[in-house]
Amino acid sequence: MTNKTVLITGGNRGIGLDVTEMFLEADYRVIVVARDFTDFPFGADERVETKVFDLFNLEDIPALFQQIGRVDVLINNAGIMHALPYDDYPQANIEQIIKVNLEAPVALIREAAKGMIQNGGGRIVNNASIAGEIGHPDIWYGITKAGMINMTKSFAKLLGPQGVVVNAVAAGPVETAMLATIPEQRKKAIKSMVYTGRFAYPEEVAATIFWLATDCPEYINGTCLDINNGAFPR
Ligand SMILES: NC(=O)c1ccc[n+]([C@@H]2O[C@H](COP(=O)([O-])OP(=O)(O)OC[C@H]3O[C@@H](n4cnc5c(N)ncnc54)[C@H](OP(=O)(O)O)[C@@H]3O)[C@@H](O)[C@H]2O)c1
Repeated sequence: MTNKTVLITGGNRGIGLDVTEMFLEADYRVIVVARDFTDFPFGADERVETKVFDLFNLEDIPALFQQIGRVDVLINNAGIMHALPYDDYPQANIEQIIKVNLEAPVALIREAAKGMIQNGGGRIVNNASIAGEIGHPDIWYGITKAGMINMTKSFAKLLGPQGVVVNAVAAGPVETAMLATIPEQRKKAIKSMVYTGRFAYPEEVAATIFWLATDCPEYINGTCLDINNGAFPR
């Protein structure tokens, strides 16, 4: 096993599970934070530590880090989306999505950065979305993902001088459980916009996250990599 540790939020399923698998292939110690590990396939792997934790509970994040200790890599992957119209969006859902998608990643970076700075550096990758670049029917989802892209730039600026590399990815729709909330007609419209008429595979996003978290040059810092197959060329 390498002596490196990665913390992956939502590493139990979807894109995060592929990220977990890639870090295990690279022989990292992997800490996975999520609420439900029922179908998690790597629970018995001795290199994996599972932490049942709801990222809504921001105030418990410092105590979580006291249990975990120093990490070399942080992957802010966990996220939620609500299929709710802007004019009928309960306040409780707004609070939940802002806490889980935006405030928790900031708190995790704040805590992880302490050990990274002591250690002379580290890597952080944020799983944002095309929703944060072009707008989204779930306006709060788009707002949180736009915030995540900006947070990436802010933390790269704040932590870059101390050797911490902070980047993000912004994928178009990816074949995971999250897509179940998108209406069929919208899925068809999105597919017609991309070059090869399909959604992204989770492993394509995971491979990009893994590269940013490991081999990518340190001069790539504060960047958001688009993974959208032509849905938003720029
Ligand atoms: N799928 C897409 O089309 C797409 C496109 C662009 C970006 N993304 C982003 O990619 C990331 C992963 O999404 P996915 O597609 O893999 O979706 P997913 O299959 O629905 O996975 C979401 C992950 O987040 C975790 N999570 C959600 N709420 C949590 C909470 N309160 N506390 C702790 N963990 C929580 C879930 O674990 P538990 O439920 O067990 O807690 C799960 O591991 C998200 O940030 C999403 O916004 C997805």
